[in-house]
Amino acid sequence: MKKLLVCIALVLVSLSRCVESQIEVGFYEDSCEMAEFIIKDEVTKALNKDKGLAAGLVRMHFHDCFVRGCDGSVLIDSTPSNTAEKDSPANNPSLRGFEVIDNAKTRLEAMCKGVVSCADILAFAARDSVEITGGFGYDVPAGRRDGRVSLASETLTNLPPPSFNVDQLTQNFANKGFTQLEMVTLSGAHTIGRSHCTSFNNRLYSFNATVDQDPSLDSRYAAILKQKCPQGNDPTLVVPMDPPSPNTMDTSYYQGIIANRGLFTSDQTLLTNPTTANQVNQNARNPFIWKNNFAAAMVKMGKIGVLIGTAGEIRANCRVING
Ligand code: HEM
Ligand SMILES: *[C@@H]1O[C@H](CO)[C@@H](O)[C@H](O)[C@H]1NC(C)=O
Repeated sequence: MKKLLVCIALVLVSLSRCVESQIEVGFYEDSCEMAEFIIKDEVTKALNKDKGLAAGLVRMHFHDCFVRGCDGSVLIDSTPSNTAEKDSPANNPSLRGFEVIDNAKTRLEAMCKGVVSCADILAFAARDSVEITGGFGYDVPAGRRDGRVSLASETLTNLPPPSFNVDQLTQNFANKGFTQLEMVTLSGAHTIGRSHCTSFNNRLYSFNATVDQDPSLDSRYAAILKQKCPQGNDPTLVVPMDPPSPNTMDTSYYQGIIANRGLFTSDQTLLTNPTTANQVNQNARNPFIWKNNFAAAMVKMGKIGVLIGTAGEIRANCRVING
């Protein structure tokens, strides 16, 4: 009865707090005031050592959110009885930046034990990475809780492979509540980071039954890529995805697509549909609009399937579900 009265009283103050129906900006203001600052400090330190980790953290947040929602499931380690998301081919060996999340978590647990979720740490770290590499900063609504399930098999059905064409990409993003424009906007994340040769070398050596090399790939660029990625599937080789500015959130990714230098089929395909081609052109010319749209799309992505209120848990160690 007392609880009900408290709840009714809270309804009068703020409906969202009572039913906890959504995540909110400033969630840790009272419970762990320094949380966002600590996370930004850890991200900054990590990027000073390795700029590429910014791309790693942005991609990790994407891969978290598209599989079981933004619940930190991508951070969970495999166990003898379970192969976790991070050990699926979509994530291993390509995902990077796990130590940055671990380091932030260790400091936050020491300061405010059991308060800040791993899913939120990742969302903040992705935002910080965007901002530090030249994108627009944005407020991150928080209050996500951590999931207790992570299955490698679920990455296959939820994450788009680099072989997807524009219709498949549009459908995949629609499944997560995104418009086609938002899909084009978020693809711009490929303006930072790297790819393993194995993710695209079919375009260089084994495109289809009649042609070895993808004719939609600029032939001079293909020649450069063939030097960096000799035939043979060496799993250690990597190339920058946007060679002119691999660590900067700019729109040269879109300029690359216009020059037929999109690295993946899923990048170059954006030019094959009049609507998405138009959006590629707009973004290429208009960094301000793209950065704005990108920030908004990241906030939206961060809301996919979140666990709130009493669902899930606050993991003590981001790699392990609580005992
Ligand atoms: C549109 C569909 C997408 C496909 C098919 C796709 C696919 C890929 C692939 C195959 C890689 C290379 C992995 C490797 O071999 O190392 C990659 C890298 C990357 N992706 Fe995507 N991606 C997509 C969308 C996104 C989105 C929405 C984001 C974030 C908002 C994103 C962020 C990144 C980043 C930052 C990297 C570089 C990672 C690093 O340097 O460690 N991607 N993506
Ligand atoms: C291979 O790709 C080329 C260029 O896109 C295309 O013209 C051809 O029809 C394709 N062949 C097969 C067997 O799919």
